[in-house]
Amino acid sequence: MIRPVEWRNGAVVLLDQRLLPGQEVYRVYRDHKEVAKAIKDMVVRGAPAIGVTAAMGIALGMKTSRSRDLRRTFDAICKRFAATRPTAVNLFWAIDRMRNAFDEIADRSPEVVREVLRQEALTIHEEDIANNRALGGFGASLLPRKGTVLTHCNAGALATAGYGTALGVIRAAHESGKKLTVLADETRPFLQGARLTAWELKKDRIPVTVITDNMSGHLFKTGAIDAVVVGADRIAANGDAANKIGTYMVAVLAARHKIPFYVAAPVSTVDPNSPTGDDIPIEERPSREVTHILGEPITPRGVKVANPAFDVTPNDLITAIITDRGVAKRPYKRSLAKLLRSPAQAKKQRAKPSTRP
Ligand code: MRU
Repeated sequence: MIRPVEWRNGAVVLLDQRLLPGQEVYRVYRDHKEVAKAIKDMVVRGAPAIGVTAAMGIALGMKTSRSRDLRRTFDAICKRFAATRPTAVNLFWAIDRMRNAFDEIADRSPEVVREVLRQEALTIHEEDIANNRALGGFGASLLPRKGTVLTHCNAGALATAGYGTALGVIRAAHESGKKLTVLADETRPFLQGARLTAWELKKDRIPVTVITDNMSGHLFKTGAIDAVVVGADRIAANGDAANKIGTYMVAVLAARHKIPFYVAAPVSTVDPNSPTGDDIPIEERPSREVTHILGEPITPRGVKVANPAFDVTPNDLITAIITDRGVAKRPYKRSLAKLLRSPAQAKKQRAKPSTRP
């Protein structure tokens, strides 16, 4: 299985996703500041993978710090990670998990604190893979026995600790014997679909066809698409879902052509503190991602560009939300709240107040 993030010999190891599919380079990080920079610079990306990496980065920062003031150090490290990428709520969820673990043992020796935080980061990593397999199982039954599934961006093994969310659903359906072809939107400007989704599906021998982002309208109209599955960076309490820029366009087309549009994400992507999609912060990324392709300029020098990295799909365009605890249907406010209230979550919620900004 592809593992984009790992804890190895006391260091954080990241597969540099900026270089795929050309080169498979694993970078070893021994400084938590460099891990935070790697999240910002998209060495690692995808909401769950960002959360797992931040948890490991926090454990790394505490391991390497020699300060005697553990709480001050911990707060400063968390603040650094919280400032990396604003939309993926899994980042803040993972920081909250690490803070809960820290608060329980903050008065113990530095050795105990470091070991507990390392263990918590490893648990978050393992749980993410298990959750993706669970949601894959729930979602697989929703896909046709045979057909073509469109996906946008990369919500695969590369975007998680492993297996994937949207691609986890497709993987599980493929493993169960369904005959599916995946249409991967190239996903301008960062090309997560053309570079990453195509790379990991090809590796797994799941049939994949890459299209540019402006081709899906034609393919919906000519009956070439049977279902859409995408991931999410943050799902509001009412089911509005933020995902890679361009997802909303696909959802509108799917609705127009009466094609099911599924969002697949673990419950850690559901943010009860964002009542609707309007409450989700949208990251604006550097203009260079738009003005250049693979290092080459494609626009006149100095031209103005916009680069919102995500958009929000309103809940009425979403056929179902596939989570690791089951499939939520409309009205999402009720169905998501019910999934969030499952026993394990209730225990965590009782633990400590949220530290989200
Ligand atoms: O900017 P990115 O590459 O981090 O955006 C990733 C996405 O939009 C994914 O679809 C989302 O994080 C879900 S990943 C399982």
